[in-house]
Amino acid sequence: MVSKALLRLVSAVNRRRMKLLLGIALLAYVAFYSFLLNRSIQENGELKIESKIEEIVEPLREKIRDLEKSFTQKYPPVKFLSEKDRKRILITGGAGFVGSHLTDKLMMDGHEVTVVDNFFTGRKRNVEHWIGHENFELINHDVVEPLYIEVDQIYHLASPASPPNYMYNPIKTLKTNTIGTLNMLGLAKRVGARLLLASTSEVYGDPEVHPQSEDYWGHVNPIGPRACYDEGKRVAETMCYAYMKQEGVEVRVARIFNTFGPRMHMNDGRVVSNFILQALQGEPLTVGSLTRLPFYSSDLVNGLVALMNSNVSSPVNLGNPEEHTILEFAQLIKNLVGSGSEIQFLSEAQDDPQKRKPDIKKAKLMLGWEPVVPLEEGLNKAIHYFRKELEYQANNQYIPKPKPARIKKGRTRHN
Ligand SMILES: NC(=O)c1ccc[n+]([C@@H]2O[C@H](COP(=O)([O-])OP(=O)(O)OC[C@H]3O[C@@H](n4cnc5c(N)ncnc54)[C@H](O)[C@@H]3O)[C@@H](O)[C@H]2O)c1
Repeated sequence: MVSKALLRLVSAVNRRRMKLLLGIALLAYVAFYSFLLNRSIQENGELKIESKIEEIVEPLREKIRDLEKSFTQKYPPVKFLSEKDRKRILITGGAGFVGSHLTDKLMMDGHEVTVVDNFFTGRKRNVEHWIGHENFELINHDVVEPLYIEVDQIYHLASPASPPNYMYNPIKTLKTNTIGTLNMLGLAKRVGARLLLASTSEVYGDPEVHPQSEDYWGHVNPIGPRACYDEGKRVAETMCYAYMKQEGVEVRVARIFNTFGPRMHMNDGRVVSNFILQALQGEPLTVGSLTRLPFYSSDLVNGLVALMNSNVSSPVNLGNPEEHTILEFAQLIKNLVGSGSEIQFLSEAQDDPQKRKPDIKKAKLMLGWEPVVPLEEGLNKAIHYFRKELEYQANNQYIPKPKPARIKKGRTRHN
C-alpha cells in the first residue's frame, strides 16, 4: 500500500521538485539538530557556571550569617515606660564623656533619646552600644546651626570642656556656647521643651571667696586664654535667664565642677587623666599647686537628672566639696596604679584657678543630691578604662607612610 502511494507521489512530482523537497528536509534536519546540540551545550555550560557561582557565594552567605548572628545587638536593659511617662529627650554633646553617661542613664530609664553631636571631642564609640535601638537616635549636627525636632527636654552639653580642647579654636568655642545656646533655647521655645544648660565652675574664674556658692558672681579675666570658655558659659547662662524671663522658657542651670570617669579623653589635659596616664606609662606625675578635687561621672549624671526634673530654675553647683592637696591626690593615684613614677612640680598655667571648692548646700537641700561614689572606687574604674584604652591604642596603631612635604597656603581651620 505504502509503496504504491509513494510511486503515485513520485510520478506526481517531477525530479526537480523532488530535489527541492529533499533539500528543504535536509536543511530542516540540520537546523533542528544544531538547535538540540546548542541547547545541550548551553545547559551544560550553565550548570558549570552555576556550580562555580555557588562555590564562591556559599562562603559569602556563611559570612553574612555569622555577621547577622554577631549583629543581633544585645542592648543594656531598658525599663518600659508608658506613653505618658516616656519623654523625648535631646542631648547635645551626647557623644562626649558626660553626655554618653547621661545617654546611658536616660535610655536605661526608658526614655527616647536623641543625641546631637558634631564629634569635635565626642566619639561614636561612646554611644555605639545604643545604635539601632528603637528609642535611640544619633544625629551628626553642629549646634551652631539651627535644629528642628520635637522634644520634651533638652540637656545642652555641647561644648569642648577641657582647656586644650576649648583653647584649640577659641572662636568656635565662643560660637558653640553663644550661637549654639541661642539655637537650643530657640528650639526649647518653639516646642515648649525644658532646657538644662551644662554650665561650669569656670564661671567663678579664679575665685576670691571659698567655698563658692551660687550667689558668688565670680572673678574672670575676660581677655585671658580661658575667656572663650569662661565667658562663653557666662553669657550662655545670661541667655537662659533672658529666655526664661522674656519667653517663659523653663531653664535649669548646672554649674559643674571637675568630673572624671571612663570615656574621658586621653588628651583631656586635666589632672585626673594626666596623673593616671603618667602613672600607667611610668612617667613623672606633673603636679601644679591646685587643690580642686574631681567627682565621679555617675554622681554628676544623677545630679543633672535630679536638677532637670526639679523645680529649681536658678543655678545649682554640682561638685565634690572634699578637700585634699593635689600632692595627696597624685600619691593616691600612684598607689592605686601601683606605679613607681616620681612626682614633679610644675609652674602654673595662666589664669588657672588656684583654689576651687563647691558649696553644695543648695543641691543637698533642693535636690537631695550629693556625690556618693568614694574617690578610690571611681579612680579604680577610671584607671581600668585608661589601661584598656592604652592597650587598644597599642593594638590599633596606624603608622602613616611619610608624605612629601607640601607648602601650606594658609589657615585651613574651620570656624
Ligand atoms: N567634664 C567636666 O569636668 C566638666 C566640668 C564643667 C562643665 N562641663 C560641661 O559639661 C559638658 C560636657 O563636658 P564633657 O566633659 O563631656 O566634654 P566632652 O568634650 O567630652 O563633650 C562635649 C561634647 O560636645 C560636642 N560638641 C562640641 N561642640 C559642638 C558643637 N558645636 N555642636 C555639636 N556638638 C558639639 C563634642 O563633640 C563632645 O561630644 C560641657 O558643656 C562642659 O562645658 C564639664
